[in-house]
Amino acid sequence: MHLPVLVIASMLAATTIALDNGLMKTPPMGWLAWERFRCDIDCDNDPKNCISEKLFMDMADRLSEDGWRELGYVYVNIDDCWASKTRDEKGRLQADPKRFPGGIKKLARYVHDRGLKLGIYGDMGTYTCMGYPGTPLDKIKIDAQTFADWDVDMLKYDGCYSNETEQEKGYPLMSKALNATGRPIAYSCSWPAYQGGLPPKVNYTELGMICNLWRNYGDIQDSWDSVQSIIDWVFNNQDVLVPAAAPGMWNDPDMLIVGDFGLSMDQSRAQMALWAIMAAPLFVSNDLRTISSGAQNILQNKLAISINQDPLGIQGRRIVKEKSRIEVYLRPLSNNASALVFFSRRTDMPYRYKTSLGKLNFTTGIYKITDVFTYKTEVLKDSTDFVVSINPTGVVMWYLSAPAKLNPRLLFNHDKHQRPVHRDDEKNAIPLVFL
Ligand code: GLA
Repeated sequence: MHLPVLVIASMLAATTIALDNGLMKTPPMGWLAWERFRCDIDCDNDPKNCISEKLFMDMADRLSEDGWRELGYVYVNIDDCWASKTRDEKGRLQADPKRFPGGIKKLARYVHDRGLKLGIYGDMGTYTCMGYPGTPLDKIKIDAQTFADWDVDMLKYDGCYSNETEQEKGYPLMSKALNATGRPIAYSCSWPAYQGGLPPKVNYTELGMICNLWRNYGDIQDSWDSVQSIIDWVFNNQDVLVPAAAPGMWNDPDMLIVGDFGLSMDQSRAQMALWAIMAAPLFVSNDLRTISSGAQNILQNKLAISINQDPLGIQGRRIVKEKSRIEVYLRPLSNNASALVFFSRRTDMPYRYKTSLGKLNFTTGIYKITDVFTYKTEVLKDSTDFVVSINPTGVVMWYLSAPAKLNPRLLFNHDKHQRPVHRDDEKNAIPLVFL
């Protein structure tokens, strides 16, 4: 029997061994406390911003009332500093009684009532990174069960205060323990970040079998430098990282800091665009109560989100690195579509970058392209040169439909003076510039 290549490919994909919890077939989306709110536990003096049940309830309200949930941002994730410094009389973790008077189960209820999911944070060492009780080997079973009893939906399992040997045992053990609870709990592993992120120390095949997502690299900070260092690391190591990602198992380059203090609007679009190319989890860490409409629009961009959430789950790559400090990134999408990002590392002025889809190795044909951030559309032949104007430290991002056969009538329309204007996506669409 001769099976078409596509059928064989999908059979292979279906037999890929993954963590058997059926979760996160597309990258998870939601809100995570850490980058923006850190370990602020001073509820007496800073009640609005301290790590408390109130903060998570506020964010759950915003996610459900300000259009986030419908777009897929459903996780409300607690990070470090939620726990009491002591376990209860039965040896179980407990939330800090002053800051979480209702306890985690009640908070989970609040979050679930709003159609959202609750994530929690643990650490496989003796202490969490900020010195709260950890979940070392002998506590894994009881803590997994406690999280399940609280109706938690996701665990980020950090690695501070643990050594290599413990991590080798602990990360797989927690995976098993979570599954054994019978509650679907998504599992985020910080393990590879503690091993330097690369083989031979990191075994990405094993990670795919035990975790839904994993941090590979250092913590994001609220700065453009930090975003760039993550982008550099991920794409410099794309040959290792791209094959590791697939539905249910994702590389996690850390949180989105769009809406905080460190990024310009152009840099914010760049982070959103490249996180979409990377098939990265989209956990925003900002204050949803005070976010600017500019930042909210970027994070709520439907086309960028749909690119991030593409069901094929193929992580994209950097395909061009010019001396001019312009870079081009490509992510293959379902239905033979693709996403392109033109990224400028320059710091002078908008740069007019000239190329063609043919030069970027696209197959012969004509493509409908939609600019992700302006919704301008155009039809473009592979051999036609075009110019994109890319702002300093900014991006131009395109969604490209599958190539259609060359159609002489459309080509005629490419004549400069008779260019068709496609206004089907957004009202004031203007055609892109062609040479
Ligand atoms: C580590 C993690 C961060 C955050 C802190 C909390 O540094 O990488 O994402 O969870 O711990 O202490």
